[in-house]
Amino acid sequence: MTRVAVIGAGPSGLAALRAFQSAAKKKDKIPEVVCFEKQDDWGGLWKYTWRTGLDEYGEPVHCSMYRYLWSNGPKECLEFADYTFEEHFGKPIPSYPPREVLWDYIVGRVKKAGVRKWIRFNTPVRMVTWDKKKKKFLVTSHDRPKDMMKTEEFDYVICANGHFSTPNTPFFLGLDKFNGRVLHAHDFRDALEFKGKDILIVGRSYSAEDIGSQCWKYGAKSVTTTYRSKPMGFKWPSNFEERPLLERLEGKTGYFKDGSKKDFDAIILCTGYQHYFPFLPEDLRLKTANRLWPENLYKGVVWQDNPRLFYIGMQDQFYTFNMFDAQAWYVRDIIMGRIKLPKADNMKKDWKKWLRREKKLENAEQMIWFQGDYVKELISATDYPKFDVEGVNKTFMVWEHHKIDDIMGFRNNGYRSLMTGNMAPKHHTPWKDALDDSMEAYLQIK
Ligand SMILES: Cc1cc2nc3c(=O)[nH]c(=O)nc-3n(C[C@H](O)[C@H](O)[C@H](O)COP(=O)(O)OP(=O)(O)OC[C@H]3O[C@@H](n4cnc5c(N)ncnc54)[C@H](O)[C@@H]3O)c2cc1C
Ligand SMILES: NC(=O)c1ccc[n+]([C@@H]2O[C@H](COP(=O)([O-])OP(=O)(O)OC[C@H]3O[C@@H](n4cnc5c(N)ncnc54)[C@H](OP(=O)(O)O)[C@@H]3O)[C@@H](O)[C@H]2O)c1
Repeated sequence: MTRVAVIGAGPSGLAALRAFQSAAKKKDKIPEVVCFEKQDDWGGLWKYTWRTGLDEYGEPVHCSMYRYLWSNGPKECLEFADYTFEEHFGKPIPSYPPREVLWDYIVGRVKKAGVRKWIRFNTPVRMVTWDKKKKKFLVTSHDRPKDMMKTEEFDYVICANGHFSTPNTPFFLGLDKFNGRVLHAHDFRDALEFKGKDILIVGRSYSAEDIGSQCWKYGAKSVTTTYRSKPMGFKWPSNFEERPLLERLEGKTGYFKDGSKKDFDAIILCTGYQHYFPFLPEDLRLKTANRLWPENLYKGVVWQDNPRLFYIGMQDQFYTFNMFDAQAWYVRDIIMGRIKLPKADNMKKDWKKWLRREKKLENAEQMIWFQGDYVKELISATDYPKFDVEGVNKTFMVWEHHKIDDIMGFRNNGYRSLMTGNMAPKHHTPWKDALDDSMEAYLQIK
């Protein structure tokens, strides 16, 4: 029997499991699917843990999420086309759910699909190699509770281990002697730790914006962000500012490129993540920065040099859950022989065409339409339920404007579901005043 290994049970890996299960439900013969998950439960980054550094088995902690994290984009843009928020919660809910609510939604779909039995938890994959003679992958995994290693043969491998977990940590002169706490966003867990403190945030992307906003919301004395390329440019509150790049630190004092200086109690490096595949040899390993079109992937998922290896979710992300679905359904259909791959040269031509377009993108609006076009192309090739991708793009545009209008208030807005056509109710409390992020608190809709 054909065997498929899925590495990771986050939203991307779970999309793969659901894709195969949906084919089985239509009475199609599916391969044997084995999903390896290093954590003790599913949901990937959305599974919160208080742990940082190493876990109970000495594995690097995967979680980069933190307490009080709310979705940073409208839920209407990530909604599954085959499992709506309304189906899960039994009613329309507001548009920017906290982490726990989204985790509940992600796992609700796969609980219903009954695919948990395909997952081996607490089992990191240690190595994947390609056996040329046998035309099989050899996958070595490590059952941590039993402390047993095992190597098995698979016909296909789907790599869905995420790429926002291994920090990128640049050095700044004087950081090693800074008289305060220094951490990367990956290890940030609770904004209350920074209440009453002067915080320096390095970076200008989503982590910088959100962790800075959180620290402000939970009572930091001041938040200063420092950028390398350009400022975020939002209308920040009075004790929140943006400065050019940090040049050096002396004691607690940061010196910036524009000649200014300021004292800080803590520094949070929101400087992004590395694509990291310690279990893949050179010939199978994706090497890329965080971008919308990583190279060597036909249709963004098929490994050019060995088309039995697939990657899901390796792009930088405006689209998330429904893009992972589009990719998973596409990969499933290649594996099940419903989609035929072109010759190697033509695959290369195809992804190079997308790459050329990606390189010309100038702003977030163009990037959203680019990723939307990609999602549309994949969905048109499979039986994933069709949805209004352009409507999602337009919702992203409105979201962007809401952020420009009011960066601390954009989460108070509601949007129409592109799946059900229903409008999201307003949340009962403005985001900046809603300190309790539990599911119970959030779902008490007026
Ligand atoms: C702080 C933060 C906030 C975010 N907020 C949002 C948001 O608001 N909205 C949104 O849509 N997206 C958000 N994202 C984007 C996020 O990348 C996606 O939502 C989603 O979690 C990606 O799913 P994934 O399955 O590709 O990766 P992950 O969620 O990272 O899951 C990967 C899984 O692979 C497992 N794994 C890793 N290595 C191995 C191994 N060797 N063997 C076995 N298993 C392994 C991990 O344990 C994990 O369970 C956020 C990301 C971060 C970092
Ligand atoms: N739900 C939420 O609210 C939430 C919160 C946090 C993160 N996220 C998600 O998490 C993902 C990752 O976001 P991210 O912001 O961590 O990573 P990212 O988008 O890859 O951004 C990395 C940032 O680090 C900066 N940087 C890198 N090296 C630097 C250096 N040497 N000096 C100064 N700056 C440097 C980059 O600067 P330049 O731009 O100048 O290159 C960029 O601003 C995104 O998908 C995001 O949506 C969501």
